[in-house]
Amino acid sequence: MAIYTEELADFIWRNGQIIPWAEATIHVNAVGHASVAGIFEGIKAYWNEEQEELYVFRLEEHLERFLNSIRMVRYGCAYSPEELHRAVVELLKANRYRRGVYIRPYIFQKGLVRELLQAEPGKATELIIDSWPFASYRDMSQALHVCVSSWTRISDNVMPPRLKCFSNYHNGRLAAMDAVVAGYDWPIMLDDRGKVTEGPGACLLLVRGGTVIAPPVTSAILESVTRDTILTLLEETLEIPFEQREVDRTELYVAEEVFFVGTGWEIMPVASVDRLPVGDGKPGPVTLGIAEAYRKVVSGQDERHPEWRTPVWSAER
Ligand SMILES: Cc1ncc(COP(=O)(O)O)c(C=O)c1O
Repeated sequence: MAIYTEELADFIWRNGQIIPWAEATIHVNAVGHASVAGIFEGIKAYWNEEQEELYVFRLEEHLERFLNSIRMVRYGCAYSPEELHRAVVELLKANRYRRGVYIRPYIFQKGLVRELLQAEPGKATELIIDSWPFASYRDMSQALHVCVSSWTRISDNVMPPRLKCFSNYHNGRLAAMDAVVAGYDWPIMLDDRGKVTEGPGACLLLVRGGTVIAPPVTSAILESVTRDTILTLLEETLEIPFEQREVDRTELYVAEEVFFVGTGWEIMPVASVDRLPVGDGKPGPVTLGIAEAYRKVVSGQDERHPEWRTPVWSAER
């Protein structure tokens, strides 16, 4: 189940310049420090064969979340949303992509490892935009066997999950490792009050009595762009009711459908939770309907919400 291809880009964007990928190096002494408060984004661009266009999906929203995370860690950032928007488009053009692309902007504080805990608001940062072709997860036959993790999800007053910080992923990694060692594909994490949050790299939705239920943005989750897209599609396109409310662990055991949603994973069905099959263990009609609606809107086959898709090759800016 690979999300990353082995392929590398020709060019990368670094502090305002597009440079050859191989030249974007850094001293080894900066490494330990760099990721502590480092912030990143995960964005995808989809190729539309018929229109011969590459669309970056919900670029504005991803950049807004990126800049909000930067604000919360009190980094300095020399670039406006418009400049970052242009940088992404220029980078994709420089790499001549005519296929699906994963785009990863990230920012970290410059400095040596000895400055690890030197919190200095506004300190100089290094801003990178990387990209690579992606392999889509959209194989609906790969429903996951998941467990509820014994690792508690980080919380807003500990390490805010709202903030897309590299360090947050240590919490998810511990849970993911445990799940894999125990023979599961992936974990679901509970918050410090035992309520359902999300998985290590994707939000979680479930279906009960025909209604889609989404843990709210105050349930120790990343404010997911995909989650927002799906709730909008449920209302506008699919006409399926949904609720945003806290979810108990045992609701996962009696749900008709459970699935992860996120930019990387897109829509990923869950086959079982703690070895209890979800429905008949196969992706259900709501999951499949959402996956299809999502596939069409990201690629522009469904032409609604043009503001969600930034065209790369016909871009004017
Ligand atoms: C912890 C976590 N939750 C949720 C998501 C889904 O967010 P989005 O839909 O914005 O990609 C991600 C993906 O980056 C994530 O890492």
